[in-house]
Amino acid sequence: MAPQESGIQTKSLYNVVFVLGPPGSGKGTQCAKIQNGFGFVHLSAGDLLREERMRAGSQFGELIEKHIREGTIVPVEITCKLLENAMLASGDAKGYLIDGFPRNRDNLDGWNREMGDKTKVHFTLYLSCPLDLCVERCLHRGQGRTDDNEESIKKRIVTYNDQTFPIIQHYEKLNMVREIHADSKSVDEVYAEIEKLFNDAGFH
Ligand code: ADP
Ligand code: C5P
Ligand code: MG
Repeated sequence: MAPQESGIQTKSLYNVVFVLGPPGSGKGTQCAKIQNGFGFVHLSAGDLLREERMRAGSQFGELIEKHIREGTIVPVEITCKLLENAMLASGDAKGYLIDGFPRNRDNLDGWNREMGDKTKVHFTLYLSCPLDLCVERCLHRGQGRTDDNEESIKKRIVTYNDQTFPIIQHYEKLNMVREIHADSKSVDEVYAEIEKLFNDAGFH
């Protein structure tokens, strides 16, 4: 018997869409537009880690900075807690766009462990983009990031190929990937395709 039928109230789950793609593919840019257009809350794992790195009294500042500069992935216990706290702090939302997460197996396992029964992951939005174009975009991003230099970008691409792309493949096997080509098109043209995808998914 389904829980509803037995009279047991099922708790409501947070709607989640993961957003993945190489560094510079346009995840943050597009999430800002989806947030405006669909009432989702945009949570960038990278932004949350950068914020925690700067927080006075954080015990993780140095560790996070080292990972960011080396392009490696911060242990999920830190990142998942930051995401969960941000979800709780954001109040009511139609759903959450979790940008740049899960980035490796540790992220994925930690999420499933801690958040699996509190959230419904609808799909992974995958912004595909040739890596040479991504490198150019990162080099010209102009946000003063400590990892937007050639050496760090090279390392981030290696991490993406070795650790993040297999996560996209994992979701692909579950038929949970929605790929949008994020190159050779303007920001608005990419968003128009995403808008259609979200509408088709029923997120009006
Ligand atoms: P990510 O969050 O995936 O690392 P960003 O959204 O920060 O990527 O975008 C990286 C850079 O590329 C930014 O300077 C952004 O303005 C630019 N950008 C994003 N999408 C496009 C696009 N479709 N065409 C040209 N430049 C883009
Ligand atoms: O997504 P973004 O490019 O902002 O991520 C910047 C860096 O933050 C990554 O290269 C990585 O060092 C760290 N990060 C992480 N775990 C995540 C997301 C980002 O360790 N899930
Ligand atoms: Mg980003």
